Amino acid sequence: MKSIPHPIQYQGSKRNLAAVILRYVPKGVDCLIEPFAGSAAISIAAAARKMAKSYLVNDLNQPLAELLRLIVEFPVETASFYEQVWGAQHDDSIEHFYRVREDFNRTQDPRLFLYLLARCVKGSVRYNSNGLFNQSPDKRRFGTRPKTMRANILGVSALLKGKSRFSSLDYREVLASAKSTDLVYMDPPYQGVCGERDSRYFSGIGHSDFIASLEELNARGISYIVSYDGRRGDKTFGESLPSSLDLAHIELDAGRSSQSTLLGRDEVTYESLYLSQALTDKLTHKPADYRQPRTQQFVLLEPAAHYA
Ligand SMILES: C[S@@+](CC[C@H](N)C(=O)[O-])C[C@H]1O[C@@H](n2cnc3c(N)ncnc32)[C@H](O)[C@@H]1O
Repeated sequence: MKSIPHPIQYQGSKRNLAAVILRYVPKGVDCLIEPFAGSAAISIAAAARKMAKSYLVNDLNQPLAELLRLIVEFPVETASFYEQVWGAQHDDSIEHFYRVREDFNRTQDPRLFLYLLARCVKGSVRYNSNGLFNQSPDKRRFGTRPKTMRANILGVSALLKGKSRFSSLDYREVLASAKSTDLVYMDPPYQGVCGERDSRYFSGIGHSDFIASLEELNARGISYIVSYDGRRGDKTFGESLPSSLDLAHIELDAGRSSQSTLLGRDEVTYESLYLSQALTDKLTHKPADYRQPRTQQFVLLEPAAHYA
């Protein structure tokens, strides 16, 4: 498959796991709904494979959701704006970053956000307690070159234009509109360390509220996939989802963490995927190495080599 365009650098992006996550998308999806879209890596990768008729891209972070809309609906203008902001950084690029950050915090202009995400360390957003973006620039890089950014923006627009809707709502409002012919992919803010507030994202969510939402989706027969907890070696991070939800549990081999490698440890990180029963009922071929452990959940260890 041709390489998939990605204009938005975003920590926690699922772009490297998209190919394996999308193996669990059944045929004939009406709308792929991404309530916690972030960089919309899954919607973009699904659109590249023509997996759904339409896409609903939502993120509570309003400038981020609006940026995705501008990229899809006004690609040429968005690329030109980026080129202008990027090109103005050369005299003193660090000071330029801080100026753009101040402008962004004052105006919430999503186009400025694109430059900040491209220029800050690993696209890792950080917010202070007043909700202001406070991440610093990556001093070693200038951010994606305008020519590359333009190609990525035009590529995403070609994939999603005319079939996507964008919103910036709490995930529960988005879930209310899901139908049994849709597929919901959920990648909520990481809840392993930070409880309900995660400074790495715009907002956090409550574990029990989230479980109640999944129970409701089950009662409505909605097909969904959730990326939730994970483990490195023997250490799990995040609370796992309860077996009462009747989800198939799949562990994806997300590779060796750079931290483990530095420490000389041979530890692989596994990310969990949970599949709703309504979804597994629709899957025509179940992966051959499904097995049933004590919890009555399915576990499949996916080898990283397949992620291309
Ligand atoms: C782990 S990130 C998603 C990353 C995404 N899968 C990607 O590939 O880029 C979680 C996202 O959830 C958003 N979020 C946080 N609380 C939310 C809420 N209550 N409703 C909807 N989105 C929310 C955050 O702004 C963040 O972008």
